[in-house]
Amino acid sequence: MLNLCDLSYHPASTPQPILQNLSLDLGPQELGLVIGPSGSGKTTLLEILAGLAYPTAGEVRWRNQVLLPEALQQLAGLVFQFPERHFCGHNVLEELRLGHPELSKGRITQTLESVGLGHLSLQAEPHALSGGQQRRLALAVQLIRQPYLLLLDEPTAGLDWSMRRQVVSLLKQLKKNWSLLIVTHDASELIELADRAWTLDHGVLQPYTLMTPAEATA
Ligand SMILES: Nc1ncnc2c1ncn2[C@@H]1O[C@H](COP(=O)(O)OP(=O)(O)OP(=O)(O)O)[C@@H](O)[C@H]1O
Ligand SMILES: [Mg+2]
Repeated sequence: MLNLCDLSYHPASTPQPILQNLSLDLGPQELGLVIGPSGSGKTTLLEILAGLAYPTAGEVRWRNQVLLPEALQQLAGLVFQFPERHFCGHNVLEELRLGHPELSKGRITQTLESVGLGHLSLQAEPHALSGGQQRRLALAVQLIRQPYLLLLDEPTAGLDWSMRRQVVSLLKQLKKNWSLLIVTHDASELIELADRAWTLDHGVLQPYTLMTPAEATA
């Protein structure tokens, strides 16, 4: 269980806080969705949860323990917006082994299968894959580290309709094993997967009431 308690982020360089007193809870195997317009603080929130930025107030807890950024870096896997821009391996195998040369072939194959890329050649060039395959590979790069919490920044941005559907169905699968927190400006396709949702506006988080399946079809 992830808990944010009164988390704020107000660097000295900004007149206004970027995040103000955020609190949220996310359970195991739950998918949480934070919906907010450009500049609302979505990426900053993920950077804090991934241990890449220090909150200026408040706490992040995991299973009732306060975690410092170093521990969050181990716990969380962050998939950046447009993750394919950050690929730097010459092939799929290198991309997955970056920083982890000890990883076995078995673990690599298993991870690729978990994102629906089991058929892919390990020698394939990451930049030559389709947009949907690249997003799957970017998820695999995080999953292979076996994080407890997956953080995704605009996972469907810049993809066409069919590739967006691929990503949405993969996220639905991943939810069975991981806690996921996704931030987006466009909730239309992701809202159906969400167990909890919030809106973020000018750094202020508010609960967003999800419709029950019965209400959604009424
Ligand atoms: N290190 C920083 N120093 C100063 N201001 C920052 C810093 N990082 C982000 N900001 C500001 O904080 C606000 C939130 O930025 P953030 O990137 O988190 O928004 P976002 O919701 O992810 O936007 P987008 O949808 O465009 O990606 C913006 O006003 C941005 O200019
Ligand atoms: Mg952003």
